[in-house]
Amino acid sequence: MEFATDYWTATMSQFFMLPEHFTFTTLDVSTLLVFVATFMLAVRFLRVDKRPGNLPPLVPGGWPLIHHMPSLLKTDLRLQFDRWAKKLGDVYGVKLPNEIYVVSGYTALKEMMEKDAFSTRFDTNISAAVGGDQDILMAPYGEVFKKRRRFATSVFRRLGVKMGPGSTQDQIQEEARFICLKISGYKEQPFDVSADLTSAVGNIICALVIGKRFDYGDTRFQHLQMTMKKLVVKMASIAIPFIHYIPKVQDPLAELRFHSKKLQQFIQEEIDQHRQNLDPEDPRDFIDYCLLQLDQQDGGGTWLNEENVGYILKDLFIAGTDTTAATLTWALLYMILYPDIQQKVQAELDSVLGATKPSLAHRDQLPYTAATIMEALRIRHIAPTLFARQAAESNCLCGFDIAKGTFVIFSTQ
Ligand code: HEM
Repeated sequence: MEFATDYWTATMSQFFMLPEHFTFTTLDVSTLLVFVATFMLAVRFLRVDKRPGNLPPLVPGGWPLIHHMPSLLKTDLRLQFDRWAKKLGDVYGVKLPNEIYVVSGYTALKEMMEKDAFSTRFDTNISAAVGGDQDILMAPYGEVFKKRRRFATSVFRRLGVKMGPGSTQDQIQEEARFICLKISGYKEQPFDVSADLTSAVGNIICALVIGKRFDYGDTRFQHLQMTMKKLVVKMASIAIPFIHYIPKVQDPLAELRFHSKKLQQFIQEEIDQHRQNLDPEDPRDFIDYCLLQLDQQDGGGTWLNEENVGYILKDLFIAGTDTTAATLTWALLYMILYPDIQQKVQAELDSVLGATKPSLAHRDQLPYTAATIMEALRIRHIAPTLFARQAAESNCLCGFDIAKGTFVIFSTQ
């Protein structure tokens, strides 16, 4: 104890220039602790934030250092954002611990989406998984981003309009047959439908990107599925800021990079195989179109090189698989919860399709089914905050000043 009070005295003397004969007693230390605790509570409850300029309102309260983080940890993020928006309006600030702005409501969201200054996405976890600015998903908004996205959209269009065997529609119908067979095989046994739906969606992405589907039990496919799962779980779970600064605590991003590298290896093997039997007259899939584009540029492309191709393919796997599988799983759950709606969808499908396979051409004849799918997408929007954006330059939003570099997130609840 004596050592402890001596240590306190020495340390405190250094910071506060205490007289040399001053000694801290146990009582002094408890008084100090009470003082610190009272001070922190006073800061928490009485703080008046002096905000320079014309900044959006800040969520009141918050703790020293950690600010509003506890409010987000204890509750559903979307509901908390919604509650704050009701009190503070469509644009407000929240400290996590740096100040970011949350935007909600149709008018504010539209204004934000229309402004180039807020078009660059930013998410360190996704960036670590897809390779930062090398791809489409996380590339900074600008000419390079636009060219890559335009190219990807045009390839999907070309693959989508292809008719007959090997067309996208044909591949989806084929996969639907496989998943129905798989599910009917369970008979009365309980099973996890989300795992099967993820395999089915994964196969459709494979068909689009690498031109083939796999048997569900195929070892290479199972490894791919496992890698994708770990990648997505890691991406969703890394929410503890600054953890990599804590000594001896493993950097969670390292694991993310590890799984990302495994996905990259799978993609590279496919690119190498495609190179060997590429037919310029008959591109089969997304990779073939990318390789033809690279050949056409002959090494002179500023927006697409072989490395970018790998990262863009990774985008398609990461952005396309879990999103679609999770949405389908929610839709199925709602069908179970609302059997009357399920019956109406079934009746419409039976009357319009009979024994034929569903196709895009039937969509206009299936208004009830289409509306049900749209409603499932609406009530269970699985990415309600989309990706955070970082202001590329200082700008204003709904009349408020937003400084360059500030993070702005959507709240589409
Ligand atoms: C229900 C399924 C899906 C949902 C809910 C979904 C959701 C989203 C969201 C919220 C964004 C970001 C929008 C933004 O920040 O502006 C996005 C972007 C993107 N998604 Fe999806 N997605 C789905 C399916 C897919 C599929 C199947 C693919 C591809 C095979 C895909 C590829 C992409 C790509 C490449 C981007 C970036 C494109 C761009 O920058 O414009 N997504 N998606």
